[in-house]
This record gives sequence, C-alpha cells and structure tokens, in this order.
Amino acid sequence: MKVTAVAISAAALFAQGAYSWGLVGHATVAYVAQNYMNGAARILTSHLLSGTPLAEIASWADTFRTTPDGRFSAVLHYIDANDKPPQKCNVKMERDCASEGCIVTAIANYTSRILDDTLDFSERSDALKFIVHFFGDISQPLHTEGLAVGGNEISVLWGNLTTGAKVNLHAAWDRQFVDTLAGGNTLAAANSLAKNIIADLDTGIYKDLKAGWTSCGSIKRGTGCPKAWAQDSNRLICSNVLANGVEEVEGKDISGDYYAANVPIVRQQLAKGGYRLGLWLNAIAKAEQLKCSSRP
Ligand SMILES: *[C@@H]1O[C@H](CO)[C@@H](O)[C@H](O)[C@H]1NC(C)=O
Ligand SMILES: *[C@@H]1O[C@H](CO)[C@@H](O)[C@H](O)[C@H]1NC(C)=O
Ligand SMILES: [Zn+2]
Repeated sequence: MKVTAVAISAAALFAQGAYSWGLVGHATVAYVAQNYMNGAARILTSHLLSGTPLAEIASWADTFRTTPDGRFSAVLHYIDANDKPPQKCNVKMERDCASEGCIVTAIANYTSRILDDTLDFSERSDALKFIVHFFGDISQPLHTEGLAVGGNEISVLWGNLTTGAKVNLHAAWDRQFVDTLAGGNTLAAANSLAKNIIADLDTGIYKDLKAGWTSCGSIKRGTGCPKAWAQDSNRLICSNVLANGVEEVEGKDISGDYYAANVPIVRQQLAKGGYRLGLWLNAIAKAEQLKCSSRP
C-alpha cells in the first residue's frame, strides 16, 4: 500500500496535475455560469456546441493539449508569475506571459475568435470550449504562480502514507480539495456543488461580493479583464496558498488544518470563475447580436 502510493512517478503526477481544476472544478464553474446566462448566451453557446451542455465540454482543453494538434495550447492554461511568495505577489505581463502566449492573452484571443465570422464553425466552437475552460483555470491561484512550477514541484501528502497518497500541491488544489468539497468526482457532484454556490451568490455569503468580482467585465478591453483576474488569483498565493511559506506544506499531510483553512478559498474561486464566465458569455452574445443588426 505504502509502496504503491510513493511509487507513483513524479512525471505522472505532473502530467495529471499541471493544467487545471479537475473535471469537478471545471464542471462546477460551467454549471454556475449557465445559471447566469441570458437567453442570447444560451442560444449562442447551444449553437456553437451543437446542444452539448457547457459542463460536458469544460475539460475538453485538458484533453486537447495532449494531442499533437493541441500541444501548442498547453502554455495557455496558466501564467507563471515570477514573483516571491509569500513576501511579494504580482503578475507582470512582460515578465510572466510566455512569448507563445499565456492564459491572459488566450482569453482575449478566444473571446474575439468566438465572434469572428471569418473562422470555420469548428474554430469558433473550439474558441468557446477554451473560454469555458480558461475561466476555471484563471480562478485557480496556482495557475497564476511560477514558484515550483505552480506548486507542481512541492510534494505534499493527502492523508497519511498508510491510507493516503503522495501528491503535489498544485494537484491537491486542482483535485483533492475540489472533490472533497463536492463529495465526489462526478458531474452530478459538480452540479450539486454548483447549486450550493449559486444559492450563496444569490442570497448568501457571495451576494455582496459578486459585483466586485465582475467590476471588470468588458470584452472590448482585450487582455484588461483577464489580467485583472490573474492578479486577483495570484494575490491569494501570498495571502492563503503559501501564506506561511513552502515549509508549511512541503512533505506534510495537508488534508487536515491546511485544507480546512483553504477550502473556503477554493469554493469562492469556483464561484468567481462561474459568475464571471456567465456574464462574459452574455457580453459575447450581445456583441454577436450587435454584429448581426449592424449588417447592411
Ligand atoms: C489564438 O488562437 C489560435 C487558434 O487556436 C492560435 O493559433 C493562436 O496562436 C492564438 N493567438 C494568440 C495570440 O494567442
Ligand atoms: C492514517 O490515517 C487513517 C485514517 O485517518 C488512520 O486510521 C490511521 O491510524 C493513520 N495511520 C497513521 C500511521 O497515522
Ligand atoms: Zn487547464
């Protein structure tokens, strides 16, 4: 048992954990978004996805990046801030966004591609799938941090070595935290977590916060809003994720106190990602309509 847990190769963990919230996190963001989408956004997304629900395509980008055609997109799932947590957290585009692109430029790029009539249907459809996915990734703090490859090189334990597993900090935030919060790793678990989150957005603990989360929301600002959101996530690295330095977590079982202290952040970030995505898709649908009505 013990041997098996430790023997999982670092490469396997890296491949699994490096790119996103797992299935549940991305689906939760999609379900939350769907609740805030207006009729026009529903029609547009249903058209571009041929009726497939958002939650079912939310992790497509993680599969696509592993294919030869999709390899270029692997760098687009994050921005590696070269800051100094926990003393100093910040995102600087010139310093941190790779020349091949990063999540900030990717959100701007795929937003405009959804609206670009010169592209094929499948290209616009892929652009929407990227957007749904990247709104999840950009809300995961470790997707906006370069230290130890976004925490992928910080080895931690999830449970003790008798019953638990050796994972890395990034993977734990992506999967163990979310699956534990949702009470499962299925779309149904994501849907019920989303319902909980929606209740808090409407009338609970997020009610008065959500306007601030979408104070930047104009799709016309290019990288402006995604940059603000990356900054917002990155700030949490210093205030929460690595508030007490790498030493607090490295080699430690983080399923107890650390999880308890940080799970409210995980939940809030899923709420942010979903709410921002819903309103963003409404803005895209509005731009699509204006485009049609201004046509001669
Ligand atoms: C925009 O998306 C296209 C299609 O995936 C990609 O080929 C291109 O490199 C992207 N451009 C930028 C600046 O991210
Ligand atoms: C490991 O965790 C399990 C489940 O919490 C517990 O029953 C067991 O006693 C722990 N083992 C050690 C060595 O701490
Ligand atoms: Zn991803």
